[in-house]
Amino acid sequence: MTVSSARLANSLFTSSFATRPSINASAPGRVNLIGEHTDYNGGPVLPLAIERRTAVAARLAEQWSLASDMEETISEVDIDAPLQRTWTDYIVGVVRELRALRAAPSAAEIAVATTLPLGAGLSSSAALTVAAAKALSLLAGRRLTPAQLAEVAFRAEYHQVGVRCGRMDQTIAAHGERGSAILFETATGSLQRVPFRGRLWIVETGLSHRLTGGSLNERRRECEEALAFCRDWRLGLPNLAQLSVADLPEVERRLPPPLVPRVRHVVTETARTRAAAEALAAGDLQGLGRLLVQGHESLRVDYQSTIPEADLIVEAAVKHGAYGARLTGAGWGGAVVVLAPSAGDRRIVAEIGGDFAGRFGRTPEIWSTRASAGVRREPVPA
Ligand code: GLA
Repeated sequence: MTVSSARLANSLFTSSFATRPSINASAPGRVNLIGEHTDYNGGPVLPLAIERRTAVAARLAEQWSLASDMEETISEVDIDAPLQRTWTDYIVGVVRELRALRAAPSAAEIAVATTLPLGAGLSSSAALTVAAAKALSLLAGRRLTPAQLAEVAFRAEYHQVGVRCGRMDQTIAAHGERGSAILFETATGSLQRVPFRGRLWIVETGLSHRLTGGSLNERRRECEEALAFCRDWRLGLPNLAQLSVADLPEVERRLPPPLVPRVRHVVTETARTRAAAEALAAGDLQGLGRLLVQGHESLRVDYQSTIPEADLIVEAAVKHGAYGARLTGAGWGGAVVVLAPSAGDRRIVAEIGGDFAGRFGRTPEIWSTRASAGVRREPVPA
């Protein structure tokens, strides 16, 4: 990436508002190595922050005006008006949540720029809400902790915008560290760094998903329903991730058949994620790769959140010598993360691209990243 999102946001700010921003903050997208659809079921996740980021440049003003590098026009927004079902809702949601902490400015001009692909399962929305929470709270003279920023961003998405997400994306955008993945145990809030100095490849399916009101919300409802059934025989069960693989025969006996594979995914994925963190910590990339492939298979068969484009990429990755690959993020579109030996990785991803083009008639976007830093303040022009 030659130009950073922070510089893009600064220059967009200047061209949009004919003055310089006084604050700029950026936050990363993320790749989830493994632990998919476990975060809203009390299980572990193993994401890392990536090098592509979203930046928010801002300055105090008389009213709220928002510019984005994705749109031609500047949007005037009313924080108290009903949401508009556009990207500006995320900023409005952040401002409302900051107000609850008395950490919002009275009004601001804001410019947003990103180097992340949108709707690619790489958490562009959490990058936006975490960066906005940091920039706007600084503008109000407050220094929130990474945990507070993650909570503001989560509440903005969940309670304001209405996406029934878990806490993984905002947490990694706030707490990400260069050179490490983070094992986040969502039931306890514990965060554990797991060094990862290598390179990961991202192969985009080119199909974007929209989370609001979509399949993620439906799966979450199914999980809640399944938990209610499980509580008939496991009184007080706090979440699905507390079940073990040994409980699955009982789950099969007691739950309506369509809910059984959803629970099986959550339970097996929970075990895989902890095993993956151990494999990574031990430097066993082959073992990690096998777990990624098993995780993808579980998403395909049990959670039914993959798409044929992603299935082909995973299959091609394994065939051409990658350690492993899996669809990352919510699914129903998005991107595949590929873990390949550093010797030969470019050949492997070129061959994946070739197989994909042969089947779908177009070349996918393919790029690599390393584990990168979480939210941070960025320089503004003097
Ligand atoms: C989306 C949500 C996350 C998580 C993943 C699936 O990215 O925002 O909280 O639930 O889907 O693992």
